[in-house]
Amino acid sequence: MIAPTSEYALEVVNLKKAFGGLVVTQDISLAIRPGERRLIIGPNGAGKTTLFNQISGDMRPNSGQIKLSGADITRLAPYRRAHLGLSRTYQIITLFTGDTLEHNVTLGLLGLRPSRWQMWRPLSFYGDLANEARRVLDAVGLLHLAAHPVSDIAYGEKRRVELAMALAQKPRVLLLDEPLAGLSNTERSQVKSLIASIPRQTTVIMIEHDMDTALDLAETVTLLNYGRVIVDGDRDAVIADERTREVYLGV
Ligand SMILES: Nc1ncnc2c1ncn2[C@@H]1O[C@H](COP(=O)(O)OP(=O)(O)O)[C@@H](O)[C@H]1O
Ligand SMILES: [Mg+2]
Repeated sequence: MIAPTSEYALEVVNLKKAFGGLVVTQDISLAIRPGERRLIIGPNGAGKTTLFNQISGDMRPNSGQIKLSGADITRLAPYRRAHLGLSRTYQIITLFTGDTLEHNVTLGLLGLRPSRWQMWRPLSFYGDLANEARRVLDAVGLLHLAAHPVSDIAYGEKRRVELAMALAQKPRVLLLDEPLAGLSNTERSQVKSLIASIPRQTTVIMIEHDMDTALDLAETVTLLNYGRVIVDGDRDAVIADERTREVYLGV
């Protein structure tokens, strides 16, 4: 059902989201090319996560449009967007902590969110998917922990699992919400190289608060403030822009 081609991997047109009287995103329009590395920055409460929630389908916009490779996905359920090639990670880890790494990854590959996880099924039920899950864990160097419960592993390891799960779906578009937040320096460089190694078939859109780290990975930058796009364009131009200094750097 997806349109075969478009100049853009992802387009957002005049997206608006309000909670009661509080307008959290307004007139947000973005056009992101296939393979692009886009960084979304902006102060806390700017509406960055809310923007991702609308793109992924976790939240429904009040108005506006979202297109994936030219196809209108504005009203599709999140799992259908995932099947069309849209993956995301969350700012808050969504792994199921009581369950093993391999079970989490297997269910993640199925595109199931924690609320729908069906824990009663043995791993063998999933056949090839369970093998694929082990390959994913191997790729991020965590195969030796496959049978451990998520609650046993370090925060940085959880983030790597989450990222690997999203990548295993070989998405056209990957949304990363603060993938480096809360990591130690070592973990940060591990996750950074994992992100840097994402193949160009995947378009990467990343929210990151730590600008210094994130700018290495970004080609283009969008600055949000109070739910609106303030500046948008090539990385160096956005960094040099006076409005970026005003909003983000507070000078
Ligand atoms: N479900 C919600 N209900 C009410 N207000 C919300 C909800 N989600 C987010 N907000 C509000 O929207 C604003 C933007 O939040 P968010 O998108 O999380 O910002 P950011 O990710 O840029 O820090 C905040 O003021 C937040 O309190
Ligand atoms: Mg956020």
